[in-house]
Amino acid sequence: MLFRIAQSDTPASSEITPRSTYADRRRLMLTGALAAPWLAGLPARTHAAGAAKLAGRASPLSTTEKPTSYKDATSYNNFFEFGTEKEDPARMASILKTRPWTVAVEGEVLKPRSFGIDDLLKLAPMEERVYRLRCVEGWSMVIPWVGYPLAELIRRVEPTGNAKYVEFITLADKAQMPGLWSSVLDWPYAEGLRLDEAMHPLTLLTLGIYGEVLPNQNGAPVRVVVPWKYGFKSGKSIVKIRFTENQPVSSWTRAAPHEYGFYSNVNPDVPHPRWSQATERRIGEDGFRQKKRKTLPFNGYGDQVSSLYAGMDLRKFF
Ligand code: MTE
Repeated sequence: MLFRIAQSDTPASSEITPRSTYADRRRLMLTGALAAPWLAGLPARTHAAGAAKLAGRASPLSTTEKPTSYKDATSYNNFFEFGTEKEDPARMASILKTRPWTVAVEGEVLKPRSFGIDDLLKLAPMEERVYRLRCVEGWSMVIPWVGYPLAELIRRVEPTGNAKYVEFITLADKAQMPGLWSSVLDWPYAEGLRLDEAMHPLTLLTLGIYGEVLPNQNGAPVRVVVPWKYGFKSGKSIVKIRFTENQPVSSWTRAAPHEYGFYSNVNPDVPHPRWSQATERRIGEDGFRQKKRKTLPFNGYGDQVSSLYAGMDLRKFF
């Protein structure tokens, strides 16, 4: 994100991780007692030993594209609470305790309440949705997510007429998340959607991938997935959902407002200030030097979501 390079394959010196972040990372590595060894070299779709199953009925909203291998999807992650390198979450997130877990829903709702993780697991029928996830850094994956529309939860808390936005606040616990000792972002990681975006049938409250409960590095025990937006809009390990009248400020916007706007819809025509968004590399398929795929507007979900932005200048509201 802030420190990534995508325009060329060779990092410019100005884009290399700053020394302070590097020093933070070294310090985190020294807390190696926290790290669990990742099982290297497993064949594609070999799942974590003992992971609980979480099946969902196949959804017509799924893409027919080939899913990324389980190994790639669970070992190449962004989850800065566990470090800024792609392999850090898989190595460090095993210490995250995902039970008990509650998600507090508050703000502009008639029925504020907390949902325990078991409440969330039985709130609505599980579906398997195979979605593309496109990261602003220029890579993408295709993942069979398991969950149900976030709208199912939203309807149960009855937003008031003042509710215009939904803010997602994720866990920030220094005892479990070594990345929080770094000041790379303001913690907790927070993201937001407009209420109609949050209610859109594609927006998934996600509890699993590949027929299993979410691995910790993928945002256990509960995250959102918003497939037409850059991946950073899909907050992991959510502990609070707040309905607001005013547009919330997300962690990335706070860190670099000119680089990360509120909407963050995948848009090949609006380059990030430091790199193009015209193409992408599919993890596990496209090599660094291989020809990249063209990025599609709204990550290919335009038929379903472009009407949400009718009349808006998406260069201004990036
Ligand atoms: N959620 C939290 N809490 N912390 C993070 O650092 N990174 C985001 C998003 N959600 C992030 C997060 C980014 S930048 C991306 S691209 C996606 O998670 C990556 O999801 P994945 O690792 O499951 O592919």
